[in-house]
Amino acid sequence: MSSVAHNIDVEAVNQELELRTPQEVLTWALETLHPNIAMAWSGAEDVAVVDMMLKINPKARIFTLDTGRLNPETYEAIDRVRNKYGCQIEIMFPDYSAAEVMVREKGMNLFYESVENRKRCCGVRKVEPLKRMLSTLQAWVTGLRRDQAVTRTVLPKVEIDKAFGEILKVNPIADWSHEQVWDYIRSNNVPYNALHDQGYPSIGCAPCTRVVQPGEDIRAGRWWWENPETKECGLHVKQH
Ligand code: ADX
Ligand code: SF4
Repeated sequence: MSSVAHNIDVEAVNQELELRTPQEVLTWALETLHPNIAMAWSGAEDVAVVDMMLKINPKARIFTLDTGRLNPETYEAIDRVRNKYGCQIEIMFPDYSAAEVMVREKGMNLFYESVENRKRCCGVRKVEPLKRMLSTLQAWVTGLRRDQAVTRTVLPKVEIDKAFGEILKVNPIADWSHEQVWDYIRSNNVPYNALHDQGYPSIGCAPCTRVVQPGEDIRAGRWWWENPETKECGLHVKQH
């Protein structure tokens, strides 16, 4: 890990920030680490964090992993944010030769056939591009929340990401509910992905996300053919 992040006492900072607002967490993170920190924005409701960051520092860095399989609405959401805030979204693409080899060997929609295939696709289209981006940073910011999944119930606001070179990982809305995120988006007029109004509380890649029925879990439409315990794509490796 690089020097600035290395000198941070993560346990102490985490204790200090646990009861703080997302904006306070982000202010600490940006003052300490900008420009060596960037937010991973999925193009979905984590846009609330994008709005907060750009209000704190208009030069705050945002990146999106374009898997090549996102919905048209997600691409529109990315451009709307770009236009509203006048910011650059750093778009990361998969390595084209790895993607070519994968679909030649396994087909375009390999992910429906097995968890192994699904993880390979997420590996090529999301995890490798994320690794490439994180290798240039000292810290990253996510929109992860504890209420999203059984795999996320224990989630600190600041942690060391052991899966990605021990850089710092900041989760400013870890303790926010789905409702708090939406109150923020509405009261701040944040441009959001049109799929949210069409029955998608959680949005990933088009072939791996579907509409959720009333009463269903918010992530029920993600990789709906798999068990909740396997529903992580490798961006977020459980560290607790
Ligand atoms: S996933 O691991 O299941 O795909 P999810 O959609 O819940 O993740 O998003 C959790 C957080 O992971 C987001 O708030 C964001 O920080 C990051 N993330 C997920 N997908 C992307 C993406 N395509 N580009 C950038 N960041 C992403
Ligand atoms: Fe591939 Fe689906 Fe993972 Fe997207 S979510 S990278 S399409 S397996």
